[in-house]
Amino acid sequence: MKKDTVVILNFGGQYSQLIARRIRESNVYCEILPYNTGLNNILEKEPKGIIFTGGPASILDEKAPKCDPAIFDTGIPILGICYGMQFMAVALGGTVGKASQREYGKVEIALETNNELFYSINHETNCWMSHTFNVDQLPSGFEVIARTKNCPVAAMADKKKKLYAVQFHPEVVHTPRGIEMLHNFLFRICGCQADWKMCSFVESTIESIKNRVGNKKVLCGLSGGVDSSVAAALVNRAVGEQLTCIFVDHGLMRKNEGDEVEAFFSGYFHCNFIRVNARERFLKRLAGITDPEQKRKIVGEEFIRVFEEEAKKIGKVDFLVQGTIYPDVIESGSGDASLIKSHHNVGGLPDYIDFQEIIEPLRDLFKDEVRKAGLELGLPEHLVWRQPFPGPGLSVRIIGEITEERLELLRETDFILRDEIAQAGLEKTLDQYFTVLTDMRSVGVMGDERTYDYTVAIRAVTTTDFMTADWARIPLEVLGRISNRIVNEVKHVNRVVYDITSKPPATIEWE
Ligand code: XMP
Repeated sequence: MKKDTVVILNFGGQYSQLIARRIRESNVYCEILPYNTGLNNILEKEPKGIIFTGGPASILDEKAPKCDPAIFDTGIPILGICYGMQFMAVALGGTVGKASQREYGKVEIALETNNELFYSINHETNCWMSHTFNVDQLPSGFEVIARTKNCPVAAMADKKKKLYAVQFHPEVVHTPRGIEMLHNFLFRICGCQADWKMCSFVESTIESIKNRVGNKKVLCGLSGGVDSSVAAALVNRAVGEQLTCIFVDHGLMRKNEGDEVEAFFSGYFHCNFIRVNARERFLKRLAGITDPEQKRKIVGEEFIRVFEEEAKKIGKVDFLVQGTIYPDVIESGSGDASLIKSHHNVGGLPDYIDFQEIIEPLRDLFKDEVRKAGLELGLPEHLVWRQPFPGPGLSVRIIGEITEERLELLRETDFILRDEIAQAGLEKTLDQYFTVLTDMRSVGVMGDERTYDYTVAIRAVTTTDFMTADWARIPLEVLGRISNRIVNEVKHVNRVVYDITSKPPATIEWE
């Protein structure tokens, strides 16, 4: 049976993904499409409702982004948010002008509650505003359903046509009743069923992979990270030993990690598991290289080469599994990313393996949903909650040349950091934390001896999307313990510093 779907037309707003997550959290399936998607392609999804997001453009600009106005004649309920509201107003014959006063932040709002969008919500509440323009004249058929001090049309509706629009952002936490408004739109106005559940996703995906693969052969490259593990687990459930997993151990993993990946996957899965020990090859290629981009390129290329050699041994396979997740799909569609760092796992499809089709079982899921699917499949918590680890591994956490000795030193310091964070019970409060080996040496004193040794940096951040991040406020006593242990337990480190830079302007990884 087809699940109820809501289409989110993205006008470029910073909260577009957040809107989608709020809807998925309400157990309704939704997809984000670019604002200029053809109407036929939108209708093919058979949406029960459509949401227009906010966006940075001004609707008064000639080149302002617009979607096909025929969308208003489809009879499908629409909710316009911020820019989405202004577009709706202008497209239907209303006008938009500069606000008497720009509103930004938390604002008191008076709601007209005699409508479905604000059903069961108090008349007076707060909302989160961020706008310079607002609707001056309503399109015909519309009425005002909310006002703020400086915004006389804070929300409007044509109840008959089920067209609603809000100038504020119901998706952010600073609009305390925002989630209820979204629920009202989904369930009261669009009549959606809350039928997007992880257990049914897992079951139906297993079923469809089974049907698609039949008795053919499938290949999966495992990194030990969350996405590829969950993708492999899903395919494995569906086709068992027809799946072969290749784990390329480049020797740039954290302490014990390679062995843990092997122990888990060869034990848990009934698939063919191949671990390729390629540590020396990688080290040889990285010898003498200090430039971060070059390191990334070398690791990426060598990874593909090793994978290719192993895949060739297996011979022709019919399917290749990729752990692509929904944010990758959205981001690759937008095409606006300027190169800050090359991420080797977001390139094109590999053309070096002899396969016919690709399976991307997680293509529709956000990261938190991938984790839920992993738990549903019985993967252990520590794997499902693993922090992100860059494809080029520890090579981008060593400033300067990579040698086995320096890798060993970094692994030990990182292990101490993780151990202390776990003991302090801080694991779930941090989104990513690791140590960096700098190429700086400085003078210290140990016993009565002068030392001239390395400085290690601790990096720990909190973030929701890894596009921006703040440095984590780890308690000073915990930092003190970590520093103490590192300088005492790891030879050739005599100084520990804490990185207190947010992203931007810094990035999370140092290289
Ligand atoms: P930056 O350093 O760009 O990192 O702020 C953002 C997030 O991406 C991770 N990262 C990578 N992940 N392949 C990956 O799969 C890579 O090459 C790569 N480089 C950085 C980083 O750990 C952080 O979570």
